[in-house]
Amino acid sequence: MTDLASLFHAHIAERQRTAAEALAETGFDALVISSGQVYTHFADDQDAPFHPTPHFAHWCPMAGPHHLLVVRPGQRPRLIRYAPEDFWYEQLPLGSPFWASEFDIEEVGTVEEAWKRLGSPEQAAYIGNETERAEAANLELNPAGLTARLDWNRTNKSAYEVQCIEEATVLASRGHLAARAAFLAGASELEIHYAYIQAVGIVDHEMPYGSIVALNEKGAILHYEHKRANVRNGDVLLIDAGAQIRGYAADITRTVAAPHCDSRFADLVAGMVKLELGLCDAVKPGMPYGDFHHLGHLAIAALLKEHGILKADPEEAVELGLSRPFFPHGLGHHLGIQVHDVAGRQGAPDGTLAPPPPQHPTLRTTRTIEAGQVFTVEPGLYFIPMLLRPFRENEHKARFDWKLIDELTPCGGIRIEDNLLVTSSGHRNLTRPHLPN
Ligand code: GLY
Ligand code: MN
Ligand code: MN
Repeated sequence: MTDLASLFHAHIAERQRTAAEALAETGFDALVISSGQVYTHFADDQDAPFHPTPHFAHWCPMAGPHHLLVVRPGQRPRLIRYAPEDFWYEQLPLGSPFWASEFDIEEVGTVEEAWKRLGSPEQAAYIGNETERAEAANLELNPAGLTARLDWNRTNKSAYEVQCIEEATVLASRGHLAARAAFLAGASELEIHYAYIQAVGIVDHEMPYGSIVALNEKGAILHYEHKRANVRNGDVLLIDAGAQIRGYAADITRTVAAPHCDSRFADLVAGMVKLELGLCDAVKPGMPYGDFHHLGHLAIAALLKEHGILKADPEEAVELGLSRPFFPHGLGHHLGIQVHDVAGRQGAPDGTLAPPPPQHPTLRTTRTIEAGQVFTVEPGLYFIPMLLRPFRENEHKARFDWKLIDELTPCGGIRIEDNLLVTSSGHRNLTRPHLPN
């Protein structure tokens, strides 16, 4: 067995164990997961780029729609592979992928044949979007209690999954280095995007999310989507871009100040780089993620004070909500098959929700940090006119240096984002070995 094959073998053994437990707890004998059907845009004949059902991807890295996976405790998983003869789209043969030996695989040429082979198993649950066929096969559709248990387990990554995410960070790091070089040579957002894509060696729809490539003030738009071709020689680049390996994502952000950038903003960028590494060092199993987020606000408030932007001690600033307009998103989120991976707001395996506190509504995870989790750490500091506006007139207005804020607003914002594996003693940064700064 190759290393990857043995990692995958252990990954599937763990899937078998946790699925058996979840099925027993929810009263099912079997689980059927389909890779899913394509989504066709309304009133159109064009399909969206295909994303497999995440629960299918958790078991099997095989691409494409309509495959069926059948899991029964105590038996090898059965994979019904949809492999049509086709002249519209290229259909690649299965070959001998490292993962194939974990499944009993049969190939079918039509979707109808796939479901015929499945039959109508008793006491079986179904996860996927081929709901009409699943209903006809007498399966229970997407049962919430079972799905929640499987989602809960997905936050605990196997060594195979960590390997996939780290390989994705290696690939993304290549893109980040090329993007930075293009920026420093004066490239536009569109050219920086092309430099990234070319270095990673993919096409756009193979990215795990739409890259954010923002020059100057656009860095303050958290999910800025455009790629301007007509703005060059930026002062600041904020680039949030990832990559995918075997269905697992990397999610990395870097902010770079050009030599001609306002030195006060460049100093803030340097401060945020240190601050982010300090926060990574604070990651420890047992800490509620909400406490970690609070630490992030304290650190950002301290930086704002140090740079003369806020005139308040960090504790007081956070208490009064003065750091929130500068840092309006969560400190991070679980990462895996989905970029914003599942179950961050689950309070228990059964699906009980643990919503974020009212003062931090955008926090994507309220879980307790545990060894085996992979999440992002991504503090941000932005000059967002819409969020700062109310503070210009309220009782706290004297706590801000508005002149300095107005002078730095054209520089946009700063985000530094790494991908971390939590270990029993702290963390392993999956990004920094490949992208040191
Ligand atoms: N790339 C989106 C995020 O950082 O959450
Ligand atoms: Mn990101
Ligand atoms: Mn992120």
